[in-house]
Amino acid sequence: MPLHDTQPLIYAVALTDVSAGTFMRGTTGVSGETAMNSRVEWPKTGFSHRIHAWMLAHLNARYERLVADRKRAMLANLRGCVVEIGPGTGPNLPYYPKEIRWIGVEPNRYMMPYVKRAAEQFGLTVDVRPGLAEEIPVAQNSADAVVSTLVLCSVSDPERVLREVLRVLKPGGRFLFIEHVAAPRGSRLRRVQDWLRPLWTKIGDGCHPNRETWQYIESAGFASVQIEHFRLPLGPVSTQIAGTASK
Ligand SMILES: C[S@@+](CC[C@H](N)C(=O)[O-])C[C@H]1O[C@@H](n2cnc3c(N)ncnc32)[C@H](O)[C@@H]1O
Repeated sequence: MPLHDTQPLIYAVALTDVSAGTFMRGTTGVSGETAMNSRVEWPKTGFSHRIHAWMLAHLNARYERLVADRKRAMLANLRGCVVEIGPGTGPNLPYYPKEIRWIGVEPNRYMMPYVKRAAEQFGLTVDVRPGLAEEIPVAQNSADAVVSTLVLCSVSDPERVLREVLRVLKPGGRFLFIEHVAAPRGSRLRRVQDWLRPLWTKIGDGCHPNRETWQYIESAGFASVQIEHFRLPLGPVSTQIAGTASK
């Protein structure tokens, strides 16, 4: 069962603290060694975040099967420097070419072991930077692509995140995304999403089932935007978008 189907129930036992923690920034190479090179702050270190990481790692297989073809088409031909915001446990790593330079920006420290394992498994060199997409710790005009899957639903300030995406992208660089979004206004599903939203956000690590994410992307200032709306059999998060926005 996908994580988003089970999040509220399981989080009911995991409503706990959100505290900052100090950790070491790591770079995991193909061989799996982790080079610790600076002290950094992980924004999310509470027990609920540990549970969230475990759930993402263990309960998302069905969702991943449903989007596998889209991810392959979106990620398999990327080149150069790729920044992934909110990579979670690293479910996108199998799709990237091994030659890319991959930087992940992730607030939850408990995602790190899963990303490291996936990097080793798929032979990627990864650079995980603790932080938030609202303040991407990457130089401006340096990324060939920025990737986001199921992250814009959770960030606290999507407009600021998209400004940051534009800042770090090189001119002509692309923002690639797959996100669950709000159902059409007035639909039954939208009423359900609106009703669920307060509890869902509280226990789902900030996730909004009713966010009109496409509106933020369309008005962010990209030179061009292509968005496909589609549905998956995923209950309250069945309405999804995938697309590309170019700087
Ligand atoms: C539903 S998970 C999706 C993870 C992964 N992208 C995937 O497709 O499975 C949301 C991810 O976004 C991260 N996240 C939440 N708020 C964030 C923020 N403000 N900036 C960056 N990442 C964030 C979470 O820690 C988590 O890894």
